[in-house]
Amino acid sequence: TSDIEGDLKSILLTEEQIHQKIADVARQVEIDYAGRDPLLVGVLKGAVMVMADFARELRIPATMDWMAVSSYGSGTKSSGVVRILKDLDTDLHGRDVIIVEDIIDSGLTLSWLLGNLRGRGASSVEIFALLRKPEAATVEVPVKYAGFEIPNEFVVGYGLDYDERYRNLRAIGILAPHVYS
Ligand code: PRP
Ligand code: MN
Ligand code: MG
Repeated sequence: TSDIEGDLKSILLTEEQIHQKIADVARQVEIDYAGRDPLLVGVLKGAVMVMADFARELRIPATMDWMAVSSYGSGTKSSGVVRILKDLDTDLHGRDVIIVEDIIDSGLTLSWLLGNLRGRGASSVEIFALLRKPEAATVEVPVKYAGFEIPNEFVVGYGLDYDERYRNLRAIGILAPHVYS
């Protein structure tokens, strides 16, 4: 089949559910950050869709910047070794930063990023993560704005990839085993 949704076992979150959650978070952020011009930091590439929709949903001034990090280290995803592949262009001194992420899996990426950005003189650094896998969390990450708690399944879509594919799915779904076995 040429339909990418055909590679899913099931749809976990529809486009409508995702956008409703992002709108809910945006309403709260508008209250919390009124008059503060927050800097939204998106983590490439998974957070591209969340960032695009969240930033456009916000009705207060905000700026955007991007980081690319790699958590693979020596081949395993949960090595805890994080490298900066693309750094921010923005000076964080005195800024109110909101890190925008698609998913917290082991928590290692965000745990490291939080420490890194807090060390650059920002006034505040908070996290918006659309998805969290609680069962997989080996690291405590303080998430101010949390979207959905999801089961420990291989999810793709809305920015989330399997081998760089499926990011362009509008929904978030569970990948069918025949795709990766
Ligand atoms: C994925 C995801 C998060 C991170 C979560 O990114 O987008 O950034 O892993 O995993 P963790 O909580 O175990 O650290 P990935 O490294 O696959 O890069 P990508 O965003 O380019 O897909
Ligand atoms: Mn990512
Ligand atoms: Mg990935």
